[in-house]
Amino acid sequence: MGLAILKRSLHIALAVPLTFSFLVTAHHHSPSAPPTKTIIAHRGASAYAPENTLPAFRLAFDMGADFIEYDVQVTKDKQLVILHDQTLERTTNVEELFPARGRIADSNKSGKKHWYIYDFTLAEIKKLDAGSWFGANFKNTTVPTFQETLDIARGRAGHLIELKAPDEYSARGVDMERLVLAQLERFNKTTSKSQTRTPIIIQSFSARSLQKIATELKSPLPLHLLTTADDKPGWLTREGLAKVKSFCIGISPHKESLTKNPDVITWAHELGLRVTPYTFTTITSQDAQPLRDQMFHFLYTFKADGVITDNPDVAVEARTKSVSLLSAPSPSSY
Ligand code: G3P
Ligand code: CA
Repeated sequence: MGLAILKRSLHIALAVPLTFSFLVTAHHHSPSAPPTKTIIAHRGASAYAPENTLPAFRLAFDMGADFIEYDVQVTKDKQLVILHDQTLERTTNVEELFPARGRIADSNKSGKKHWYIYDFTLAEIKKLDAGSWFGANFKNTTVPTFQETLDIARGRAGHLIELKAPDEYSARGVDMERLVLAQLERFNKTTSKSQTRTPIIIQSFSARSLQKIATELKSPLPLHLLTTADDKPGWLTREGLAKVKSFCIGISPHKESLTKNPDVITWAHELGLRVTPYTFTTITSQDAQPLRDQMFHFLYTFKADGVITDNPDVAVEARTKSVSLLSAPSPSSY
């Protein structure tokens, strides 16, 4: 079975049409049909292309990802761009282009200079090369805007949009949540109803930010709470998950939390919460089989609803393996 056919037949589980009608499709499988599982490309297909860039997103679509995951940040002139770090120097040539713009923040105990995203305008950020750090063949790849990222996935995959550090933006007087929702509203208005294969989910480590979206801003968009490996706030207990359920449709836990306690998935499912752990990864020169087996284990033994992975092609292989196992004739039918 070709990847495209497989992708169509195992349709995305979290289809939320752009009407924002908050319609989450239910699964109706015959007992013998394989369950649907969602493949989410973390920062795009970031094992093979520079993270959070259009080439990484395009590759993720081509590899069969159902969703792209990416991180939203805000520039000095309040524009939304896609970048993981709050500083520009790891993934761009900012030090070379703007040597005098690095600074030591008051809160930075290490005394090291950083080039903070919120010190730069969108026009300045667009001058940066966000591809060469990963490979010479990606030279001159730019930091994408949120709008460019929404556009490129239109009708091709869903968006798992992470609000990065919303509490820090809030402390700086920037209302990241309103900026993101306003842009999504504009995107919704300019997207034809026929392009419904663009479901949208917002996720964050900040429960405050998600609660604001759900309660204060009254957005019907589906939300996922991200949780860290140590889960200090205790979200991954029965009581914690019940609280999460009051403002989210799912959780994106660190995969180690589920290894430590796979019951979390059962408890979440009892509440109707979906579970999409992060981050499954391997470097390209390594044998992919251990990663494929690990994702298979999380999806079909632990029964997670999806995986967030740097290697969406390997996740597709894990899902393909499930099809061949689950659709094989049982011994009694020989
Ligand atoms: O989607 C999960 C993951 O993106 C959260 O961690 O640091 O990669 O944004 P990080
Ligand atoms: Ca992220």
